[in-house]
Amino acid sequence: MSATYSLLVSVALISLTLTGTYGADIINGKQAKKNSLQYMASVQVDGKHKCGGFLIDPSYVLTAAHCDQRGNMTVILGAHNINPDRKNLRRYTVQNKHKHPHFKNVKTGSDIMLLKLSQKLKTSKDVKIVKIPGKGKQVKPNSKCLVAGWGQTERNDEVNDLLFTEVSTIRLTDCQMLWRKLNMTLPDNVLCAWRVKTKSGVGKGDSGGPLVCRGIAAGVVSFKNGPEKAPSIYTDIVKYKQWIENVINGGA
Ligand SMILES: *[C@@H]1O[C@H](CO)[C@@H](O)[C@H](O)[C@H]1NC(C)=O
Ligand SMILES: *[C@@H]1O[C@H](CO)[C@@H](O)[C@H](O)[C@H]1NC(C)=O
Repeated sequence: MSATYSLLVSVALISLTLTGTYGADIINGKQAKKNSLQYMASVQVDGKHKCGGFLIDPSYVLTAAHCDQRGNMTVILGAHNINPDRKNLRRYTVQNKHKHPHFKNVKTGSDIMLLKLSQKLKTSKDVKIVKIPGKGKQVKPNSKCLVAGWGQTERNDEVNDLLFTEVSTIRLTDCQMLWRKLNMTLPDNVLCAWRVKTKSGVGKGDSGGPLVCRGIAAGVVSFKNGPEKAPSIYTDIVKYKQWIENVINGGA
C-alpha cells in the first residue's frame, strides 16, 4: 500500500518536473544577430508559435515529435522576429508530418519529427539549410554548442525575438547518473548539455529547436528538469540519420 503510494508520488513528481520543462523560456539568452541562424523555423499551430525547428533540406524542417498537435501546422522561415502583426512573415504550409514511428512520449525517446513543406524552398541570405552530422560523427563531451529558440509560450505572447544561449555537452554516463538521482531513466539515443552561464537555458517554446555544435545541428531540444538539477536532453540526430535519409529520399 505505502509502496504503491510512494511510487505514485514519485511518478507524479517526475511528471511535474517534466512539465516544468515546458514551462520556462530561453533564460537570459542573447538576441540573435541579423543574418545568423537562418535555418531556424518557428513551428506553429493555428498561427501560434508552438516549437522551434530547423531547415535541413529545401523541403524538410526537423523538429521534436512531442511538438505534434492537432490543428493547422505551418512553419515560419526567414524571420528572427515572429510577431504575428508583422507584414511579410513567410509562412509555409506543412504537407506531411513524419513522426518517428517509435515515439510515444519524451520519456521513451525517439523525440524527432520531419515536416515536409508544401513547396521546395530556395535558400537566400535569410533562409539557409543547416548540416546534420555525417554517419558515425558523434559529438564529444565538453563541446561548446548553442541552442536557439523563441522561448515563447501561450502565456508570454510578447516574446517575439529569436534568442540563443551557449551550452556544453556532458558525458552520457554522468548525465544518466544525474537523472537517476531524480528517479528518471533516460531514453536511448540522447545527448545531454548544461547551460554554460548560470541562469540560462531552454524551455517550452524552445522544444524542437537545434543543438548546434561547430555549425552542425547535432541535437533536437526534447526536455529538461524544471529546477535544472540535471542537464537538458536532446535527441541525438546522428542516431536517426538513416531514418531521416529514408524519409527525405522517399519524398513523401
Ligand atoms: C492553414 O494555414 C495556411 C496559412 O495560413 C492556409 O493557407 C491554409 O489554407 C490553412 N489550411 C487549412 C486546412 O485550414
Ligand atoms: C527517488 O526515489 C527515492 C526512493 O523511492 C526517494 O527516496 C527519493 O525522494 C526520490 N527522489 C526524487 C527526486 O523524487
